[in-house]
Amino acid sequence: SIAAHLKDHASQIYIGCALSPSHFSDSQYQSIAAAEFNSLTPENEMKWDAVEASQGSVNYAQADQLVQFGKQNGMKIRGHTLVWHSQVPGWVSGLSGDTLHQTMISHITDEVTHFKGSIYAWDVVNEMFNEDGTYRQSLWYNNFQTNFVGDAFKAAAAADPGAKLYINDYNIEGINAKSTGLYNLVKELKGQGVPIHGVGFQAHLSTGQVPSDLAANLQRFTALGLDVAITELDIKQNGQSQEAQAQAYASVVNACTSTSGCVGVTIWGFNDQYSWINDNPCPWDSNYQAKPAVAAIEGAL
Ligand code: XIL
Repeated sequence: SIAAHLKDHASQIYIGCALSPSHFSDSQYQSIAAAEFNSLTPENEMKWDAVEASQGSVNYAQADQLVQFGKQNGMKIRGHTLVWHSQVPGWVSGLSGDTLHQTMISHITDEVTHFKGSIYAWDVVNEMFNEDGTYRQSLWYNNFQTNFVGDAFKAAAAADPGAKLYINDYNIEGINAKSTGLYNLVKELKGQGVPIHGVGFQAHLSTGQVPSDLAANLQRFTALGLDVAITELDIKQNGQSQEAQAQAYASVVNACTSTSGCVGVTIWGFNDQYSWINDNPCPWDSNYQAKPAVAAIEGAL
């Protein structure tokens, strides 16, 4: 029998994965990615340190390769990420004040303009909260308090008015201090007329620890008039069975499909061999064998 692929089941939401062209020499990697998913996110290739390691020498070649792969295979492309405390080139970390502000705006303008028309959604700001809901003491916050957020979204909107603009974070899947801090910020930004369209829930999770209030949490954000998406899903096995892991995957996908305004789920790498973390967190194993998670995701889509 001919097995159906994940994307064949994804009529209501998209199903995506993070990809890197560093694995493209592996033909199985390419063929599974193209067959199963209808959205992709560059794992590292659009981050600032990847596109402008030294000031003024901009290189989008790796990211362009992913965009081309996505277009050839009918995939949406999520842009990731413009303003983050991590994977910032050294030359930026040394800047401050007006120079830093101008540099941030130029970076956003240049990169979003380069990919204009190709990107479904941008993660404009990534990981700006602490676990207790206060703001992370990053280069950005330490220089500009929260003012950098509205400025970043406005610059991105000016460069590509067709892209959905997201704020993205981790450990915000349940209703907790961190997700409430984010909720209060996005509500305020919406009220100020900042062009913010969505909230990305990374969802780096563990089997047995998927928050039971995930759907309720997604729904308090969609009630603000925002899209939501699961943007970086992986689920560590955490000493439990592959079947239990599969059920955890299904519960996350179900939370999205049961939330009007949840537009899609992106898995952060699809096979264990290339995952950024240990503990077999992906739906496919290191030999590209589908684990029970694949059928569970299919069933939940
Ligand atoms: C990770 C990549 O998967 C790794 O290859 C890289 O070394 C570090 O970054 N949150 C994010 C992603 O928003 O960009 C991170 O990706 C994982 C955590």
